[in-house]
Amino acid sequence: MEIGLQEVSFAYRVAGRQLPVLENINIKVSPGDFLAITGAGGSGKSTLAMLMAGLLEPTAGRVTLDGRPVRGRGKGKDTLSWQRVGMVFQQPEQQLFAETVAEDVAFGPRNMGLNGTGLEARVKAALRAVGLEPQRVSGRSPFSLSGGQQRRVAIAGILAMEPEVLILDEPTAGLDPAGREQILNVIRAFYRRPGKAVVLISHNMAEVAELARQVIVLHRGRVALQGTPREIFRQGEALRSYGLIPPPLTRLMQKLRRQGAPVTMEVLTLTEAREAILAWLGA
Ligand SMILES: Nc1ncnc2c1ncn2[C@@H]1O[C@H](COP(=O)(O)OP(=O)(O)O)[C@@H](O)[C@H]1O
Ligand SMILES: [Mg+2]
Repeated sequence: MEIGLQEVSFAYRVAGRQLPVLENINIKVSPGDFLAITGAGGSGKSTLAMLMAGLLEPTAGRVTLDGRPVRGRGKGKDTLSWQRVGMVFQQPEQQLFAETVAEDVAFGPRNMGLNGTGLEARVKAALRAVGLEPQRVSGRSPFSLSGGQQRRVAIAGILAMEPEVLILDEPTAGLDPAGREQILNVIRAFYRRPGKAVVLISHNMAEVAELARQVIVLHRGRVALQGTPREIFRQGEALRSYGLIPPPLTRLMQKLRRQGAPVTMEVLTLTEAREAILAWLGA
C-alpha cells in the first residue's frame, strides 16, 4: 500500500478561526520504506501523522492510497482502505480500556469482522510480536502491567489488525532504555516483513539515525530538510536551527573536526565512527 500526500496543507479550526499548522507537504510512502519524521515540538509532526493515517482530512491538497484520492476514516466508503494503515498514538497505553489484555488486543480485529479461532490466533501472534507471552498476560488486567508492557499491549492491538503501513507517534517517549529497546525491536521486526512500511515520528535523533531510510525534518509546518539519515545528520548547524540536536555520534565527529581532525561526518553507527577515527589516526 502506498500513501501519498500532494500539496497538503492543514489548519485547525479554533474558536471559529483557522490556525494553519501544515503548509504544502508532499510525501510518498511505499512498501519497503522507513520514513522518520522529526522536528521540534509544535512543528506539526502529530498532525501530519494523523493526516497520513486518515484521521484528519487536509484543508487543501489531497491524500491518496495506491494513487487513488481518498477521504478520511469513518466516512463510510474509504474506511476499508484505511484498515491497511495502523496508527500508534503518542502514549497509546492511555487508551487501554478492556478488563483483560486479550480483550484489548482483540478489539481492533473484532471490529474488522474477525471472531472465533481466527481472532484468537491474531491476538496471540500480535502479543508474541511485541515480546509478550500470550499464556502469561492474556487474562491479566492491562493496568497490572508495567508502563513499557502496557505500551506493547497497545501496539499489539494495532498489529493484530495486520496493517501494511505502521505509523508510530513518538513510540519510545517516556520509556526507560530497556523499554525503549523493546519497542524498537518490535518496529524492526515489523519492518523486516515483506511489503511493510514504517513511518516513525521521533525527536530522538539516535533512533532516527539507526532505523530510518528516509528522514523529513519539519519546521513550523513545512518540510525543512529531506533526505537519507546521512544527508540529514551532516547538516548539524541546520538541524540546530530547526530546534534539533544531532545524534551523539554526529556531535562527536563535529567536535573532532573542530579540533582539526579531518574525520567524515557521514557516520551513523559506532562501527562507522570507529572506522573513521582509526582512518584518521592511521593517516
Ligand atoms: N486539536 C488541536 N486544535 C488546535 N490546535 C492544535 C491541535 N493539535 C495541535 N494543535 C497545534 O498545532 C501545532 C502542531 O501541533 P502538533 O502536530 O501536535 O506538533 P508536534 O507533534 O510536532 O509537537 C501546534 O501549534 C499545536 O498547538
Ligand atoms: Mg506530537
